[in-house]
Amino acid sequence: MRIPFLDLAKANAPLMPELAEAAARVIRSGRYLGGTETAALESEMAALCGKRGAVAVSNGLDALRLIVRSWVDFGKLREGDEVIVPANTYIASVLPLTEFGLRAVPVDPSEKTLNLDEEGISKALSGRTRAVMLVHLYGTPATTPGFAARLRGEGLMVIEDCAQAIGASIGGKPVGGWGDAAAFSFYPTKNIGALGDAGAVVSDDEELLAYVRALANYGSDRRYHNIAQGYNCRMDEIQAAMLRVKLRHLDQETRRRQRVADAYRNIIKHPEVTLPMHEESAVQVWHQYPVLCRRRDELRRYLEGKGVGTDVHYPEPFYQQPCYQGLFEGQWPVTDRICREIVSLPIGSVSPAEAEEIGLLINQF
Ligand SMILES: Cc1ncc(COP(=O)(O)O)c(C=O)c1O
Repeated sequence: MRIPFLDLAKANAPLMPELAEAAARVIRSGRYLGGTETAALESEMAALCGKRGAVAVSNGLDALRLIVRSWVDFGKLREGDEVIVPANTYIASVLPLTEFGLRAVPVDPSEKTLNLDEEGISKALSGRTRAVMLVHLYGTPATTPGFAARLRGEGLMVIEDCAQAIGASIGGKPVGGWGDAAAFSFYPTKNIGALGDAGAVVSDDEELLAYVRALANYGSDRRYHNIAQGYNCRMDEIQAAMLRVKLRHLDQETRRRQRVADAYRNIIKHPEVTLPMHEESAVQVWHQYPVLCRRRDELRRYLEGKGVGTDVHYPEPFYQQPCYQGLFEGQWPVTDRICREIVSLPIGSVSPAEAEEIGLLINQF
């Protein structure tokens, strides 16, 4: 058996004719930035989230950065304001906060869902909290649309990091539609992946969207007129075309991932392996299938010996990274444990039958 953790060429192969046709269309159009594909993708992303608009941008980190920078420029966030983030998130959720002098407040996730829950957030709220970042990690929605609405009702900004959860929802409410603004990543390994870097900002707030659009284009609201000292964070037209092909297949891709997750859940029975929570009330899109095991490194070596690749998301929390030395003080025992024990099983390019085989191997570990 040889099952790599992720084989992107294999995952993209069935879409080859459609991708090639879309790429050819862009090449023939002579318009490589800001054309009809980008505009159409923006409408499709807004519709997916039930929001008024979207701005296609360069990547997920920039999507978050552009939202945060806009709120700082609008005076909605000020230096020293606290923003709650999951302690176990990828560092890209946090970089845009510290870059603008905001105080990222790490909060341990629920051990069951590996995501922020209402209790953890509620306990961490202080008089200085101005925003909450809901990161829907691993494809599982963090908290609920009702809770996000309650936070907003209390005057807090809610920013959703949907990098890992495109298509996830609760009660028919898709992630990206819960907060004041949402960021998406289309990094190639994501459930909807570009053939390079890409991202998007989604919101109901037209003023925010217009400002993000300007910031992403040198701060220019019209040609040679600059309202802000901006950046170049535009999405390539060709990536927009690739993403539109993939978006058409999002439901199918989500169902495939759900079938793989179900196969793991039905087969894996091992006293030392804890499966992620299959949340009946939520549509989970399984960006990763993370399990916990105290002998994680041994399990990985065992699977590698059987030809099965795995990965770890993530081995070191952001608050322990050298770039943040001395910045974060506190204890996050749940996250520390997750970092020691978590291992992601293949899901991005495997079939349910392969997942069953992997599950049987794990049972023999
Ligand atoms: C939770 C999360 N936020 C943000 C990002 C950043 O996205 P990108 O790689 O497109 O910059 C990623 C992924 O890479 C992520 O996993």
